[in-house]
Amino acid sequence: MPEPMELAYEERGSGPVLLFIHGFPFDRTMWVAQLAGLAKIRTAVAVDLRGHGLSDVMSGGDFSMDLFADDVAKTLDAIGADKADIVGLSMGGYVLFSFWRRHPERARSLIFIDTKAEADADEAKAGREKTAETAASQGMQPIYETLASKVVGSSPSVEVQDKLKEMMLGTAPEVAAADALAMRDRADSTADLPNITVPVLWLHGEEDALMPIEGARASAAKVPGAKFVSIPKGGHVSPMENPEAVNAAIQEFLKSL
Ligand code: MLT
Repeated sequence: MPEPMELAYEERGSGPVLLFIHGFPFDRTMWVAQLAGLAKIRTAVAVDLRGHGLSDVMSGGDFSMDLFADDVAKTLDAIGADKADIVGLSMGGYVLFSFWRRHPERARSLIFIDTKAEADADEAKAGREKTAETAASQGMQPIYETLASKVVGSSPSVEVQDKLKEMMLGTAPEVAAADALAMRDRADSTADLPNITVPVLWLHGEEDALMPIEGARASAAKVPGAKFVSIPKGGHVSPMENPEAVNAAIQEFLKSL
């Protein structure tokens, strides 16, 4: 595996670290409303996974969820945080499962959003290869056109749609291709669910068409003591679509720790 690297990040607030990991094919800027809303209770830190946003690629496109997780650990070192409350959306949730397996002592709590524990089935794996080929041969426009309407719920604002477009078209095609192959190869995390020993919050958009809420609710129910909150008016990017509900749920959860 390539060497872990320090990620670019944006930070607001003070106190214990609350670190946010974005989904595919996004970057740290998807968390702008969380940094604004939660900086009053935590040092809110949004990272750019390698190759995304302001982070270098470094590994020549050899990505994995484990490498992303080690990058997050190295970034916590750079910030000077032994532990953090860590939030992962979708692909960021896959990274969070890897982080839990590899660095459990560094997680104060885990917050999964619009994600799932299962690995890809064969058909989904083939879809990842198609995504990687499309990105490499045609760039991000076709990926954006296929994905943009699927990641939002029924009433996305123009701002959310514009932001998604900016992030998706701003992702380098070779990075999106490497992400897709890394997601194809990710481990199944379902066996980890009963073994998570830190507090868990699981948030899921009620209108998530990519990962239906019932599956998420069932996964959360397997984590001892996990709290599950459904997010109204949320699709697959509920922190962007309904930041008030997401921020309130995170704030209440962190207060309860
Ligand atoms: C994401 O939002 O990160 C992706 O939808 C994850 C996936 O494709 O599995």
